[in-house]
Amino acid sequence: MSDVTAYAPATLANLGPGYDVLGLALTGLGDRVVAAHGEPGAGVTLDGVLNDAGRLPRTAGANTAAVAATLALQALEHPADLRLTLHKGTPHGAGLGSSAASAVAGALAAATLALGGHLNDAGHRRLLDACVEAERVAAGVPHADNVAPALLGGVVLIRRYNPLEILPLPAPPDLRVVVATPGFSFSSREAREVLPEQVRLSNATSNSANLGALVAGFFRGDLELIGRALMDDAIVEPIRAAMIPGYRRVKRAALDAGALGVSIAGAGPSCFALTGSDRDATRIALAMETAWAAEGVTARAHVGAIDTQGARLVGGLAG
Ligand code: HSE
Repeated sequence: MSDVTAYAPATLANLGPGYDVLGLALTGLGDRVVAAHGEPGAGVTLDGVLNDAGRLPRTAGANTAAVAATLALQALEHPADLRLTLHKGTPHGAGLGSSAASAVAGALAAATLALGGHLNDAGHRRLLDACVEAERVAAGVPHADNVAPALLGGVVLIRRYNPLEILPLPAPPDLRVVVATPGFSFSSREAREVLPEQVRLSNATSNSANLGALVAGFFRGDLELIGRALMDDAIVEPIRAAMIPGYRRVKRAALDAGALGVSIAGAGPSCFALTGSDRDATRIALAMETAWAAEGVTARAHVGAIDTQGARLVGGLAG
């Protein structure tokens, strides 16, 4: 095996009241990492980053693809000298789990090449832990609501962090996700710094109720309940909305166009809307782009569904 290519999807973390505990994988956007054998003794190196307009770190110690690959090889007790090339397909600084997609694709490509084949469940678990830790590079703290769905696919709930316990939720096949990404960006780190250390009990109660309702909505396949519950975030959305010029107008436009629910994608600034209809999804996408244009912001909308596969090998080793 001379090289391995792995793909990991973009993700939507939080889903309104599920701050740091809910996330889903999205079809149509994602990162690829090619791993090849490197110079003996060099460890994991980063050969190149493509399609990122020069915005991402080129040094292996600062790019989550190489950081996660290094941590994964350590966790698997399988050191190797590998050269990685990262092909970005997830917009950076948009709230779509860009650093997580790179981390997961990097870790999967590196581990598969180093081990010479597919990973078992215990190996996957070690990849997950490595990728969560690699998120520290991007966000300042490890969080799993992007890397877990990027690796596992579908919709996931993080029940606890220490030790990590991930609960997969059912993924409604007819759910459509419209993501509108504006032409400005900020980092997860910045968007986390504005959040309070403490919250009002009444707001915590409201978010608990709506997180429960979201989980019930996924189990029932009740898209209207999912949409209603994700709109009721009393803690994070009101604060982060102030960081996103035009957010209120874009949200209103999506709802007027028939969206079942709208919120901020991950840490933002992208916004997302849910619907159960392809026709509505197209209309909502146009409404969101138009609303942002009225604020003087160029935005691009993407329509996807839930990616139930998660990270996978592509090209020669695709299974
Ligand atoms: N749950 C994280 C946050 C996701 O909202 O900060 C960041 O990508």
